[in-house]
Amino acid sequence: MEVSGKICLHETDAALYQEKEGTYIMDNFTFYAPTYFVFGKDTENETGKYVKKFGGSRVLLHYGGGSAVRSGLLDRVKKSLDKEGLAYVELGGVKPNPRSGLVYEGIDLCRKEKADFILAIGGGSTIDSAKAIAAGAIYDGDFWDYYQGKIVEEALPLGTITTISAAGSEGSPDSVITKEEGMYKRSTTGEALRPKFTIMNPALTETLPPYQTACGITDIIAHLYERYLTNTKEVEVTDRMIEGLLLTMIHEGPRVIADPHNYEARANIMWAGMMAHNNSCGVGRTQDWTSHDIEHELSAEYDCAHGAGLAVVMPAVFTYNLKHNVMRFAQAAVRVWGCEMNFENPEETAKAGIEALRRFLKSIGMPGSLKELGAKEEDIEKMAHTACYGDVRTGTLGGFVELKQKDVENIYRLML
Ligand code: NZQ
Ligand code: ZN
Repeated sequence: MEVSGKICLHETDAALYQEKEGTYIMDNFTFYAPTYFVFGKDTENETGKYVKKFGGSRVLLHYGGGSAVRSGLLDRVKKSLDKEGLAYVELGGVKPNPRSGLVYEGIDLCRKEKADFILAIGGGSTIDSAKAIAAGAIYDGDFWDYYQGKIVEEALPLGTITTISAAGSEGSPDSVITKEEGMYKRSTTGEALRPKFTIMNPALTETLPPYQTACGITDIIAHLYERYLTNTKEVEVTDRMIEGLLLTMIHEGPRVIADPHNYEARANIMWAGMMAHNNSCGVGRTQDWTSHDIEHELSAEYDCAHGAGLAVVMPAVFTYNLKHNVMRFAQAAVRVWGCEMNFENPEETAKAGIEALRRFLKSIGMPGSLKELGAKEEDIEKMAHTACYGDVRTGTLGGFVELKQKDVENIYRLML
């Protein structure tokens, strides 16, 4: 059936379903995401109330390099803690791609001051640093054990006030830290790391430079794609959730880049960013995370923004992995990017979707090559080796396609 010169989605879907014939089931899963979300304008003024609600009395206030100070947010939060009679100590200075050094400092400070609650004010970097401190403060060993595969079973309770829509750490059980010794950027996970509460005021993100806003949009898109690229069949509900969130990002991203004060667009992006990464749309299916692992070497090596790195990495990874499941990429191309399905040559449709993603990322100001990130060709072998073997890695990457060091090198070369 022809609709406005294009093949209608239903007909396209019929073709896509054919590929799914067979007996496939959604994976068993458990899902428990008990973060209490407080969303909307001026909600940061209620922070003290929520710290109390979740049992805090002595708070470690953790923040970044200065944006929360400059905007007056830190003062407003302190006022709300004062109002509830809560004691606090401060530790600022978290850098993007947060480092282990400040985590050790935070752990010592927490123990010395007997802090019983950590409050992160900032983006993914500050929240992740706060999570590492929360876990490390009550652990006898080195907190880095958690970033080498040990699951976090226990941590101090943690609350967040999110100032950038990006990493989704405000609703996730994950944390990513870079160890200065060796510059390993590694992640950990554990239900104990999910924030007890998260305050989300979209207006707080209006002070972000456009580049950082675009990096956040890119990271959110990556969190969706890394879940979309699955080997589990018949997961229509999560497929559709991911597609809906991707369509939202494609709609709202350019609106917020054009007008940084568009509250509605910022609000939609903020909630989409949380939904993209609290795993509600990733349950019951295998996930990928190749783009993230390959990007983490770039942000560890060159200190580039995580989102900017992902803008360069994603199209290369998708192009390299395309033949593993052409119809999955074609489905995204049709349902998300509005590409026309070419039944004679589905690969062409799949490639058109990747090109549409590449064009979108460029249009919001993201880089498109290693050179634009300041990365060097001569570092490729080393980065691929660290990605596959560094720290406790065992030689392969990827949940969608298994990749070895040579594959990862080839992928980096596609980014030149
Ligand atoms: O440090 P300040 O002065 O606050 O400045 C920050 C920083 O320079 C600035 N910023 C944040 N909010 C602002 C603002 N500037 C003006 N106005 C505001 N409202 O933005 C810069 C970037 O901040 P950062 O926290 O680094 O950004 P993002 O949220 O993108 O976090 C990136 C980190 O999260 C990790 C990444 O690897 C990276 O280290 N990730 C964490 C995940 C998780 N825990 O679940 C998942 C992600 O995939 C990601 O890997
Ligand atoms: Zn990410």
